[in-house]
Amino acid sequence: MLIQEIIKIKRDGGELSAKQVQEFVKGVTEDTTSEGQIAAMCMAIFFNKMKIAERTHLTTAMRDSGRVLQWADANLDGPIVDKHSTGGVGDVVSLMLAPMVAACGAYVPMISGRGLGHTGGTLDKLSAIPGFDTFPDPDKLKRIVKSAGGVIIGQTPDLAPADKRIYATRDITATVESIDLITASILSKKLAEGLDSLVMDVKVGNGAFMPTYEDSVALAKSIVEVANHAGCQTTALLTDMNQVLASSAGNAIEVREAVQYLRGENINPRLHAVNMALCEQLLINGKLAKDKADANAQLQSALDSGKAAEYFAKMVTEQGGPADFVDNYDNYLVKANVIKPVFSSNVGTLRAMDTRSVGVAVIGLGGGRRVATDEIDLSVGYDEILPLGTKVEKDTPLAVIHAKDEQSWQAAADALLNAVTIDEGTYEPTPEIYEVVE
Ligand code: URA
Repeated sequence: MLIQEIIKIKRDGGELSAKQVQEFVKGVTEDTTSEGQIAAMCMAIFFNKMKIAERTHLTTAMRDSGRVLQWADANLDGPIVDKHSTGGVGDVVSLMLAPMVAACGAYVPMISGRGLGHTGGTLDKLSAIPGFDTFPDPDKLKRIVKSAGGVIIGQTPDLAPADKRIYATRDITATVESIDLITASILSKKLAEGLDSLVMDVKVGNGAFMPTYEDSVALAKSIVEVANHAGCQTTALLTDMNQVLASSAGNAIEVREAVQYLRGENINPRLHAVNMALCEQLLINGKLAKDKADANAQLQSALDSGKAAEYFAKMVTEQGGPADFVDNYDNYLVKANVIKPVFSSNVGTLRAMDTRSVGVAVIGLGGGRRVATDEIDLSVGYDEILPLGTKVEKDTPLAVIHAKDEQSWQAAADALLNAVTIDEGTYEPTPEIYEVVE
């Protein structure tokens, strides 16, 4: 069938068959479908939406446009699982979750990305570990998963290549904000990992990618439904992004917090709550735990015994990082020239944080990219960020800012002061987890 005839069906509000979707995606992958045709199809989907069956056809066709990891010959004795987050600020969960669930018997072949918009990316954070190789060849990747229980890598061009072309076209044709297209884009890459089970962390709030709570719920439901139809048992958690999740936001600084968490040295309660909830869900879905309490006990024991930290150390070493990284992380993580606290002239309760602005301020410090080719400064960011609800006096530091010079320190200080609300009003706490979508 001609590509324009397939586009016409969607333009007129019809339902595409699996064969028609596959034909379109084949053309995208083989470059016989033009950018104009991709744009037209994306706009038709944007306006006319897709039924769940079509969305599943699109997701699986995009997944199958490249290599899908196969695990049968690896003889793994546990489930293959992963987590994906829609992106946040100070969201360092992946670095803790992968070794924790691996320490409990799961295998985690995590494909992660660079920072997107105001949100940080796991791949950028990992580049703060000297020597860490995020692009091992396929055989090495399998070996690492088998021996270390987990691997965190970047997306290679042979994984879901159709998504790369479609995403690039969406980006310049105002068609990013489509639940159908976001679902297929995220899941095509995740399902290419060959997973048994996936947990989605869909962020809600002023630092989230989706603009409203209802949109976050709709995305969570769409992902859960499509992934389960595609044969990957998936649950989504709607989690709060109305403040920075960890105590820090910045690459090397977040890696330090993750290692300190795994070593039991620095446990931010909100980060712990979200991380544990996601880990528990993976152990339950992966049939490694019978219920939440059982999963929680196993995970807490992996933390308390040091087993989770050992798994992280193993993963770092096998991916080319220093063998003593977990013990001597401060010898390896780069430090900024100017490190000092910022104070507010207002006193009262820290009641609100414009989390998106804090993410943008990290980019302003040099910790993220303004354009795709930018080099990032791994050393900069915010640390010891106060949680919402804290009573603030004149001498209470709001955060410690790590900057390359005084000028950028001042800009980051101004940005944080503008992003927070401190007054005598009452603080209404938000939950860490809003909803679980099964
Ligand atoms: N992340 C993705 O990978 N794809 C989207 O469409 C949106 C966020």
